[in-house]
Amino acid sequence: MSDKLTEPGSWDEVQEVCVLTERVLPISRPYLSEDELRGVRDVFESHWLGQGSEVAAFEDAVGRYLGAKHVVAVSTGTTALQLALLALDIGPGDEVIVPSLTFCASVQAITACGATPVFCEVAPNDLNIDVADVKRRITKRTKVIMPVHYCGNACDMDALLALSKETGIAIVEDAAHAFGSRYGERMLGSFGQLTCFSFDPIKNITCGEGGAIVTDRAEIAAQLRKMRFLGIDRNRPSGSGGEYDVVLQGYRFHMSNINAAIGLAQMKRLEDFRRRKIAIVDRYNTVFARLPYLSLLAWTLPETFPFTYVLRIAADRREAFRDHLKSCGVGTGMHYPPNHLLSYFANGTDRLPVTEKVAQEIVTLPLYYEMSDEDIDRVIEAVRSFCEEMARPLPEARGITAILPGRY
Ligand SMILES: Cc1ncc(COP(=O)(O)O)c(C=O)c1O
Repeated sequence: MSDKLTEPGSWDEVQEVCVLTERVLPISRPYLSEDELRGVRDVFESHWLGQGSEVAAFEDAVGRYLGAKHVVAVSTGTTALQLALLALDIGPGDEVIVPSLTFCASVQAITACGATPVFCEVAPNDLNIDVADVKRRITKRTKVIMPVHYCGNACDMDALLALSKETGIAIVEDAAHAFGSRYGERMLGSFGQLTCFSFDPIKNITCGEGGAIVTDRAEIAAQLRKMRFLGIDRNRPSGSGGEYDVVLQGYRFHMSNINAAIGLAQMKRLEDFRRRKIAIVDRYNTVFARLPYLSLLAWTLPETFPFTYVLRIAADRREAFRDHLKSCGVGTGMHYPPNHLLSYFANGTDRLPVTEKVAQEIVTLPLYYEMSDEDIDRVIEAVRSFCEEMARPLPEARGITAILPGRY
């Protein structure tokens, strides 16, 4: 605490209320227990570290949970997306429509196939894909639409599936944020086409690193199983009498038993993770909805398994907001820089005004299973103190100087 005299209710005082702490709350943190460790130890003891029975068991568990016919576990969410596109024969000359407001992994998966990403807008209320804008961007080269279920909230699957039926354009869902989320009564991943999940360290469940492609289409699933492991087909001995043949271009994108064992342990706690994260989002929403200057996402709770918590604040206040939260020991993030403005993807002609505006305003707050009630209070207090101070009359009117550099 500084020993400087502060005006009651002044910005200095607000800062001091948020006692500086060494422990900054991260925006995300995986829950890891003895169970995950035991699973990994069992794999060590089996001496079968690569793709094997744990991977098959993880695929079964995921398939049962989602009500999906085929689950193909792979090394990451990014390789899941890449393989899904490759299985649909997407390559040079093909266009894939994807929201610009996504992690660059979605886009790298497209460019890795040699295809062209066509960036589209998101809807301002939930930052999910804007289907009307997708329609405007369809050309005769469009082969896939890749919706991203942002923060875990499901995109408008009815509209997307209707569009797919009408145009013949495939849907490859980027459900990296949305493992365990539903669209109405149905789990994401049970709609039959290709849905890709991520199990990286910060996702709803983690395998350490991992991903999966989920589909109802048996022939695609069979192809994906070969593609993830160097195109090897063990059911077809080669002409030379070997144990396998190589039948297509493949990759080393499989999941290891070590990663699957972590994922299996996490599956057992999934419902606890989901309930706690829903409760935190609900609490944030209830308090933040009453505060000035914030704009909240339209959450579809309780169908959603929330991944991250993103809100919006006017662009010219965002850095002050983030600085204030930092001084209160609350970490923040920004998900994501629009991809159409990143050097490797920019073509200089894309105009995405909605995306460019919201990208200046979004802030990600801490959200993870192990947040204590005190942690949640700390986030709420930090946000509240910032917004309430901003809502006070201008400093000049109160004879106070230098509280905040400017107002809305
Ligand atoms: C929207 C989105 N898509 C794809 C991915 C890629 O998943 P992974 O990190 O497992 O490769 C991520 C990861 O953060 C993501 O957020």
